[in-house]
Amino acid sequence: MKLNTLRPRRLRLSAPLRAMVRENHVCLNDLIYPIFVVPGTNVKEEIPSMPGCYHLSVDNAVRLAEDIYALGLRAIEVFGLPAYKDEIGSSAWDPQSPVQCAIRAIKKALPDMVIVGDVCLCQYTDHGHCGQIKDHYVDNDATLKLLNKVAVSQAEAGADIVAPSDMMDGHIASIRQALDEEGFINTIIMSYAAKYASGFYGPFRDAADSAPHFGDRRQYQMDPANGREAMKEIDLDLEEGADIIMVKPALSYLDIVYQARQRCQRPIATYNVSGEYAMVKAAARNGWIDEKRIVMEELTSMKRAGADIIITYHAVDVAKWLKNDEVEA
Ligand code: PBG
Repeated sequence: MKLNTLRPRRLRLSAPLRAMVRENHVCLNDLIYPIFVVPGTNVKEEIPSMPGCYHLSVDNAVRLAEDIYALGLRAIEVFGLPAYKDEIGSSAWDPQSPVQCAIRAIKKALPDMVIVGDVCLCQYTDHGHCGQIKDHYVDNDATLKLLNKVAVSQAEAGADIVAPSDMMDGHIASIRQALDEEGFINTIIMSYAAKYASGFYGPFRDAADSAPHFGDRRQYQMDPANGREAMKEIDLDLEEGADIIMVKPALSYLDIVYQARQRCQRPIATYNVSGEYAMVKAAARNGWIDEKRIVMEELTSMKRAGADIIITYHAVDVAKWLKNDEVEA
């Protein structure tokens, strides 16, 4: 081969050329925006470690949903801080809890908005674990019965998708059966299939008041060192009937997203979690990074790894950026 005849740089000469050959794109259809709802009315308080994210009462959650709908976003995930907590997390399936009220109210105001409910117990139990405790251990099969109630209550409220994030064994089969028995055959299950015991959830646990009061979550969430085990978790959840599988967190686990993509034909979601968001916001506030550029690069990397869907607190900023200009990711 003669020197200098192979010139990949040709395709990078101009912005339109680069756009023409661009392999991956972030678009608003892919994004799910998580929100935190609280009891009361007229509450809107910024979460200190998650600038730009708020604790919202249901009235303000509906207003925000309308605003983001106008920006072009079509999917929202609802987390809640309940009015009361107990040993088994019964406020998680109370039809009057903030999550159920918000789901109903947003569905009424915006029937076309895809609404995701997070199915877990840690925000609702007085000990902060994701299930029922017996002898200092989260009892798997007792917890399944409680998770079924949470999923059904969210479906009843109008959730299009329920997203179990508890990491109990057998939870997808159990929830699918419970939904079907109640007639919710079309409620989608997006399983947090490979959810790691991650330090990146720190700001979320402050925001959701959901840190465990003793021990940690390593007996149910996955060891960050393991990749093959994630494939096993994903296989099981697909066998049990998951419609969408998720890898969480996103950035430190893009190898898992990539492997999942090679392996499965179902849609794959990844969760760009609170700690990932907080780090970008903090560095941007200090003027150390170019926020827009970094965020678009991160989200594009998730698409490149194979994610179809990205759950991200950056979604509103992205919607504004994409509205205002064409982005060179
Ligand atoms: C509930 C749940 C958590 C997150 C989503 N669902 C916290 C946890 O597992 O401790 C974390 C989301 C984030 O950090 O943005 N189990």
